[in-house]
Amino acid sequence: MDWMTGFSFRSGLIEEYAETTGAVLGGRDGWDAYPDAGNIYGGAWEGPLFVLTHHPEDAQPADGVTFLSCDVAEAVRIGLEAAGGKNLEVFSPTIGRQLLERGLIDEVDLHIVPVLLGDGVRLFDNPGSGPVRLELLNGDDHSAAVNLRYRPVTTS
Ligand SMILES: NC(=O)c1ccc[n+]([C@@H]2O[C@H](COP(=O)([O-])OP(=O)(O)OC[C@H]3O[C@@H](n4cnc5c(N)ncnc54)[C@H](OP(=O)(O)O)[C@@H]3O)[C@@H](O)[C@H]2O)c1
Repeated sequence: MDWMTGFSFRSGLIEEYAETTGAVLGGRDGWDAYPDAGNIYGGAWEGPLFVLTHHPEDAQPADGVTFLSCDVAEAVRIGLEAAGGKNLEVFSPTIGRQLLERGLIDEVDLHIVPVLLGDGVRLFDNPGSGPVRLELLNGDDHSAAVNLRYRPVTTS
């Protein structure tokens, strides 16, 4: 994820997440790649982190982290309970996809940053599924398309 630097986000965004997030649910790959529960939102957020895995027995225990091996809907139930009325944020494309299929995603918070990736885990990958329609929540027109115009940055 070394490409994730050098972008500017609107001010107050991180603080908003820190305030509205009650718990985080992630997958085992993300955890294994970044096994640091203290660095969520750069350390601005603290709270319970749940990591879904088929093999919790070989996970290194960590403070504030619970390894779950259960149905994805059960993981959401546990996470929401821990979130105490705040949001349960899903930090995983594959878990997000499973939850979309089950109708268990309330909102998708999408950040578009100016970089094209040729490889990696897709944001949404579900061969054979139908289109998943979304409504834009921050704006009056829920069906509004978002137009962005960029140019490639030339590096010499
Ligand atoms: N943007 C961020 O904040 C952030 C943070 C961390 C990582 N990432 C990136 O996100 C990517 C990870 O995405 P990913 O989707 O490949 O991995 P992931 O969701 O982090 O992990 C996938 C793994 O989670 C476990 N899992 C998923 N669904 C499960 C279920 N229903 N039951 C039990 N276990 C389940 C499985 O692990 P096992 O089969 O091994 O048990 C599966 O292989 C990485 O490329 C990483 O760089 C982003």
